[in-house]
Amino acid sequence: MPAVVIVGAQWGDEGKGKATDLISDRIDYVVKFNGGNNAGHTVVIGEEKYALHLLPSGILTAGVTPVISNGVVIDPEVLMEELDGLTARGIDVSRLVVSSHAHIITGYHRTLDRVTERFLGKRQIGTTGRGIGPTYADKINRVGIRVQDLFDEGILRQKVEGALEAKNHLLVKIYNRRAIGADEIVDELLSYADRLRPMVQDTGLLLHRALEEGKTVLCEGGQATMLDVDHGTYPFVTSSNATSGGASTGTGIAPWRLDKIIGIVKAYTTRVGAGPFPTELEDEFGEFLRNNGHEFGTTTGRPRRTGWYDAPIARYSARINGVTDFVLTKLDVLTGLEKIPVCVAYDVDGQRVEDIPWSQSDFHHATPIYEYFPGWSEDITGVRRFEDLPQNAQDYVIALEGMSGSRISAIGVGPGRDAIVTRHALLD
Ligand code: GDP
Ligand code: IMO
Ligand code: MG
Repeated sequence: MPAVVIVGAQWGDEGKGKATDLISDRIDYVVKFNGGNNAGHTVVIGEEKYALHLLPSGILTAGVTPVISNGVVIDPEVLMEELDGLTARGIDVSRLVVSSHAHIITGYHRTLDRVTERFLGKRQIGTTGRGIGPTYADKINRVGIRVQDLFDEGILRQKVEGALEAKNHLLVKIYNRRAIGADEIVDELLSYADRLRPMVQDTGLLLHRALEEGKTVLCEGGQATMLDVDHGTYPFVTSSNATSGGASTGTGIAPWRLDKIIGIVKAYTTRVGAGPFPTELEDEFGEFLRNNGHEFGTTTGRPRRTGWYDAPIARYSARINGVTDFVLTKLDVLTGLEKIPVCVAYDVDGQRVEDIPWSQSDFHHATPIYEYFPGWSEDITGVRRFEDLPQNAQDYVIALEGMSGSRISAIGVGPGRDAIVTRHALLD
């Protein structure tokens, strides 16, 4: 069995954690390949609710080896806290493997994230403030700190001092903040070294060997397609590749091995932070979706922006990621609506366009062209077979499938682990 990828098809929070959890009993390795603790995955198992940020959600399944690979940015304090939190709840985290190449989020990255946002004023991105952007910027600028640097004090000090030289000028002269001393950063990072050391490996090699042995590897994307730094609504994006291509560069697994690409898409749309969102609702329907869907951020607690399903975005995601199967989540949230609008195309300056316009300005003022589908009022959270869904719910799913560019293989009908209707097996 080759490698499987899970990616978000919209602006995040589609329920990727739940989809991972759904197939994790068939998986040997689950790999987080991008992002950091900007992610928030809520997984409900029985009466227990877990909120994960940095760790892949597959860590909750016994027997799976969780991996944080090279494409991830790690805040070591958050990593330790999350491991301790899960251990206290009886989850075995001892198998966690961490890439020597992953980059480290330090105090100066967190500071820079917050001050640059404040400086942007009205143009701010609405980041999670976790230091994600500045850490990836340092990676690309070749002044980042990697996990392996924590095990060589001389090199670590050299790198931190080098990185801080320019940053302190910026912090003091431009942002009017205090300079950050290299010693405080180095001492803090060194304090994690002993605990981190046994977890560190060449994860690219580990995963390659696993695949050669016929093991199954699941690459779990953080964020989502429309937040991808290349393919999303730039600059209102995160700073990593959250699309399936990122699963290859972010792990070292060759692209041809990634042959199952599962896109997670909500039955409506949400977004946290700033940026274009054509189907956004600012009326009582927006409130209905937010309240019914509990659309408040797992990481920052911010109310999520809400809107109707956007088929051009789903088609775009199907294409960019090569989605083989969609998992449609949160269908139950729509229960009780008399009719359900679906955006099938956009109106851009009086012209009907089927695809996302290449110009961000056009996308900013694209208005949705809606088709309306009749709703249902029956409680569907207990349904487990597609044919047992109300006819209108079945028709809604089939209509979305027809316009979204790939088959819908499973449907989420509630927050619980088992609240899912499967139409096609996700893994052979
Ligand atoms: P992620 O970031 O993609 O992992 O998603 P989040 O965990 O941030 O947000 C998804 C939320 O929806 C979580 O609270 C899940 O428990 C919940 N959820 C997932 N699938 C379903 C579903 O089918 N129905 C309902 N009502 N909730 C769901
Ligand atoms: P999961 O994995 C939703 C958004 C932030 C902001 C932008 C940049 O739970 O789907 P960053 O801190 O990454 O520099 O912020 O990206 N964002 C998310 N939105 N879900 C996420 O993760 C997100 N991670 C980042 O709100 O708009
Ligand atoms: Mg989330």
